Amino acid sequence: MSVGAGRSCYLNGDFLPLNEARVSVLDRGFIFGDAVYEVIIAQGGRIFALEEHLERLTNSLNAVLLDNPLTAGEWQAMLQRLVDVNGGGGQTIYVQVTRGVAERDHAFPRGVAPTVFAMCRPLSVADGLARVGAVVLPDNRWLRCDIKSTSLLPNILLRNQAIAAGAYEAILVRDGFITEGSASNVFVVHGDCVRTAPLSAQILPGVSRALLIDVLRGNDVTVEEEPVPVASLGDADEVWLTSTTRDLVAVTSIDGVMVGSGESPLAERAFREFQLYKAFRLR
Ligand SMILES: Cc1ncc(COP(=O)(O)O)c(C=O)c1O
Repeated sequence: MSVGAGRSCYLNGDFLPLNEARVSVLDRGFIFGDAVYEVIIAQGGRIFALEEHLERLTNSLNAVLLDNPLTAGEWQAMLQRLVDVNGGGGQTIYVQVTRGVAERDHAFPRGVAPTVFAMCRPLSVADGLARVGAVVLPDNRWLRCDIKSTSLLPNILLRNQAIAAGAYEAILVRDGFITEGSASNVFVVHGDCVRTAPLSAQILPGVSRALLIDVLRGNDVTVEEEPVPVASLGDADEVWLTSTTRDLVAVTSIDGVMVGSGESPLAERAFREFQLYKAFRLR
């Protein structure tokens, strides 16, 4: 069976089988990575935190000087239909907008329609808190990490360096401070204080990051959005990663050394509260 068989996608106004969708090799997404994207989830057939994801998509589009090709209502209707035609349930939704098809030239083309693509794949939600290992690596990415660009080669290389070291994720460090993971935001816990890097051009404004901060504060947990020195990992009680497809994951070893006691009681609680919050919003 070919990749994507049995699944439907959306491409430039049409719904069609994923393995039949075609984009020109002159698409600037292919040639330059001149594109932005989003990853969103659906649970029980309902899309979670769509408003937040569409806001970030608009911010990414604005940052790369692309007009948003669809209204919020059009995005909502299209993505819900995409989830429905793929059988509902748990889905990871991927959305990409490129600058469209043109002769290869760094200069923006004029009067070219963007390429709008969305697909989804079944998502099985973790039934409990996952525990993973991480490694610390230098953050060698560009200085507009706040844009959700499809140009992910640095992130891919970093993630695979982590995998080659037997770990799940790379915790990235710039100028002595933790920025984020290669595909996640990072939280560091000392006692009852949770810290994470402040929003800046050095990190992606993670939707899960923002929602988890709200959930924690709503449960009287102190969250500081301030620079987190990499040295603070040495005596951290817990380290967490957040991302849309995995919610919250506990890092129990870093560079082969156990984090704190190896237990993650606050992460357990945060994970539970986050599931309740999601269920409330998806009701
Ligand atoms: C670099 C990076 N940081 C953070 C995140 C987490 O963002 P979100 O919670 O919106 O999925 C991601 C998600 O893929 C990412 O790629």
